Amino acid sequence: MTDPIIRFDGVDFGYGSRPILQDLSFSVQQGELLAIMGGSGSGKTTILRLIGALVRQQRGSIRVRSQALEGLDADGLRALRRHMGMLFQGGALFTDLTVFENVAFPLREHTRLPERMIRDLVLMKLHAVGLHAVAERMPSELSGGMARRVALARAIALDPPILMCDEPFAGLDPISLGTVARLLSQLSKALGLSTLLVTHDVEESLAIADRIMLLGQGRIMALGTPASMRQSEDPFVRQFIDGSEKGPVPFHAPGPGLGALLGLDRG
Ligand SMILES: Nc1ncnc2c1ncn2[C@@H]1O[C@H](COP(=O)(O)OP(=O)(O)OP(=O)(O)O)[C@@H](O)[C@H]1O
Ligand SMILES: [Mg+2]
Repeated sequence: MTDPIIRFDGVDFGYGSRPILQDLSFSVQQGELLAIMGGSGSGKTTILRLIGALVRQQRGSIRVRSQALEGLDADGLRALRRHMGMLFQGGALFTDLTVFENVAFPLREHTRLPERMIRDLVLMKLHAVGLHAVAERMPSELSGGMARRVALARAIALDPPILMCDEPFAGLDPISLGTVARLLSQLSKALGLSTLLVTHDVEESLAIADRIMLLGQGRIMALGTPASMRQSEDPFVRQFIDGSEKGPVPFHAPGPGLGALLGLDRG
């Protein structure tokens, strides 16, 4: 078996003194599509930020392509980040650039390729997401689903072996959602990408992920194949799979009850 492309060993992370992730250990295999799920604020985006070394862990080790992030200097990190495509939460395109220029952006930033070659590469990426015909449009002239596909083309512009997508389906209607999900899955497979997909969409995760990680209370509550998740009797897993409000995941953020805040609990 080959070395995992990403590996966390006993990672602790907090913002200031507030712990967010505790003793996190997991790995992502080459070519795997791992879905990361968990309630709002459970630390999904933080994991992607740790992998990109946009924030640094307080304890433990994170290896990407067998390189320990904590051992890399600024140049080393910059070089490593070229191997990661990122579709950020909200997935915004540059509104003042055409579709073509949005996808060309990382190529212009990171390479000195001649204009002809940039043009060919951009059109090929847009073709891969089915949108080469709209290259000259502005983002405001696209549907939500199309914009997300352009953002995906931009994320893979540099042919990164690692693709990180933070809620790429958020706000899409069910049909566009299905289109973007299948596209993501097909591209990952065709290009042999190792993909981390943060999503709230249980159905799509179960359909396209190789494995699913469920985060809660700063820890990995479950990690396994869609089939093992479906069969799980763990109440935490069941609550997610069944989408029920009742269960171990509280709807309300921890803290004083509303009554206390409204001053109704006195006396
Ligand atoms: N820059 C920051 N400074 C302080 N706290 C932060 C910062 N960014 C995030 N947090 C906190 O860290 C926790 C984890 O945040 P994160 O963005 O990783 O959650 P998430 O799982 O992606 O949530 P969501 O599903 O809402 O996107 C949250 O409690 C959040 O409030
Ligand atoms: Mg997030």
